[in-house]
Amino acid sequence: MRQVIAGNWKMNGLTADAEALTQALRDGLVKAPTGAVVVVFPPFTQVATVGRILAGSGIAWGGQDCHIAERGAHTGDIAPEMLRDLGATHVILGHSERRRDHGELDETVREKTVAALKAGLIPIVCVGESEDQRAGGQQQDTVGWQIKGSLPDGFGGADGSGGIVAYEPVWAIGTGRTATVEDIAAMHGFVRAELVRQMGETAGRGIRILYGGSVNAGNAASILAVPEVSGALVGGASLKPADFLTIVSAAT
Ligand code: G3H
Repeated sequence: MRQVIAGNWKMNGLTADAEALTQALRDGLVKAPTGAVVVVFPPFTQVATVGRILAGSGIAWGGQDCHIAERGAHTGDIAPEMLRDLGATHVILGHSERRRDHGELDETVREKTVAALKAGLIPIVCVGESEDQRAGGQQQDTVGWQIKGSLPDGFGGADGSGGIVAYEPVWAIGTGRTATVEDIAAMHGFVRAELVRQMGETAGRGIRILYGGSVNAGNAASILAVPEVSGALVGGASLKPADFLTIVSAAT
């Protein structure tokens, strides 16, 4: 399966920034084509702009969240169909920053995942333990429960196109403290085993598992070579075109 390199811009990017970054990625990947799947996640306000620049480029784009409902009285929210309308193919759900800032629980993430799949979006569902949970040796229990609570029946599908999991230890996000390759190998192995246990052999083995947490141009190659790492969810480094293109070039 091709690795997925996902760039989560988080709450960054005015129009001029988004245009420059997107154009640089487009130009960079023309010069150095990749076998990986590349997806960028601008803030909602830039999804249309980014989509216009990326149309026909082979680079996909998506949203950083979506609502459960198809439409209606939900001030400030975005329906999955609205993202589809802008050509988006993916959506990030249950990111730890949404869980932290908006109190999103596994049950909400599961409902959003169902809504996204129904609208034809590929959800990237995020899981990962906090620093305290890691210190208490609870990383596997935490992530196991998050998988059980956040992923609906039918997630993944036989060919893996119906959903992606991103393992992001919260203590490694935006901190520069990347997990060691041994930690990543242990947790990705655990996530794979849980997916197989909870989803069954076919679906469980077909789901890509991305690593996220301070992935950068210098460490991407070693992280992407870890068994059961099917790509990366990149935050800060996705805002720097040269760094993001280096990460893409390390993917297979
Ligand atoms: O969605 C991306 C992750 O939260 C990782 O962010 O690369 O800035 O640590 P980071």
